[in-house]
Amino acid sequence: MSNSPTQIQLIQPDDWHLHIRDGEVMKDVLADTARQFARAIIMPNLKPPVTTVALANAYRTRIEANLKLLGIDSFTPLMTLYLTDNTSADEVRKAKAEGIAAFKLYPAGATTNSDEGVSDIQRCYQALEAMQAVGMPLLVHGEVTSTEIDIFDREAVFIDQVLDPLRKDFPGLKIVFEHITTKQAAHYVRDAVTGEKNTIAATITPQHLLLNRNAIFAGGIRPHNYCLPVLKREEHRVALLEAATSGNPRFFLGTDSAPHAKGAKEAACGCAGCYSAFNALGLYAEAFESVNQLDKLEGFASLFGPDFYSLPRNTKKITLRKQAQAVPTELPLGDATIVPLRAGETIAWTLV
Ligand code: NCD
Ligand code: ZN
Repeated sequence: MSNSPTQIQLIQPDDWHLHIRDGEVMKDVLADTARQFARAIIMPNLKPPVTTVALANAYRTRIEANLKLLGIDSFTPLMTLYLTDNTSADEVRKAKAEGIAAFKLYPAGATTNSDEGVSDIQRCYQALEAMQAVGMPLLVHGEVTSTEIDIFDREAVFIDQVLDPLRKDFPGLKIVFEHITTKQAAHYVRDAVTGEKNTIAATITPQHLLLNRNAIFAGGIRPHNYCLPVLKREEHRVALLEAATSGNPRFFLGTDSAPHAKGAKEAACGCAGCYSAFNALGLYAEAFESVNQLDKLEGFASLFGPDFYSLPRNTKKITLRKQAQAVPTELPLGDATIVPLRAGETIAWTLV
């Protein structure tokens, strides 16, 4: 591949971290994702959260109904369960038997709709034991929640206080450190020593590859660039970009596209979450091109995720062309609207 191609072909990617919500708004956001991705890990932080196999199956049925309404038959949702202090080992085994892809650990209060999350990881040890035994991945929102810890340090502190002890107690548990945002997290995942079978990986969002924390305050407060974990300093963005483009299979694509209506973002206490699904692949292509590593995009976007989850790789190919795509200032979201990432500007790459 030349250094600056104008067109690239890849095996169709999957999104390993996605919020599509529920009800009226779901089909608006689902269409954006299904246009680009073959599969997505569907986050369980609904209200109330998806804590049981029965709730996940019902959610899957609603997703499938929306896909049908949209006339889409080429997209598969991968369901997850929300871990709580009360998740039983039995529910874990049942989840495995019924094809649930993973459990999600939200420290209580860490982010949007996480109030029923885990208050103390020790309370989950029986469930974690069962996950390790049956090969069920644990996806972690890696931030401590204590208000005494500076918000920009919460991910790094989580590594020392929670993640590393957890990995020592459950060396065979497959863990995905979701939406990493710091140099510490990138290096921790890169350098982690595992057994013969790799047990750790991380997802990285487009906004954390393209933006640093100045983007939240550029000329005034920019609520649409606010997500959790919050954007960090430039040195962290650089470390994430280096990890994503390194060809290391421990790093793969997870957009964390997290839709909130315009009014809920542009408010005195605005919600956390960036909506990147409109043209997420174009954003990732820009990031990889910025360091001349477009040839590393396919591994990150299409190969390493299914390999880690022990799922088959996709076979269909897609093409991205270097052609600027305008991003609308607002998109429909049920009765409301949503402001996508890069609203009113352009993205350099377009899905053909
Ligand atoms: C997510 C959401 O809105 O559901 N928000 C976010 O800022 N990323 C939750 C999450 O993944 O933290
Ligand atoms: Zn998320």
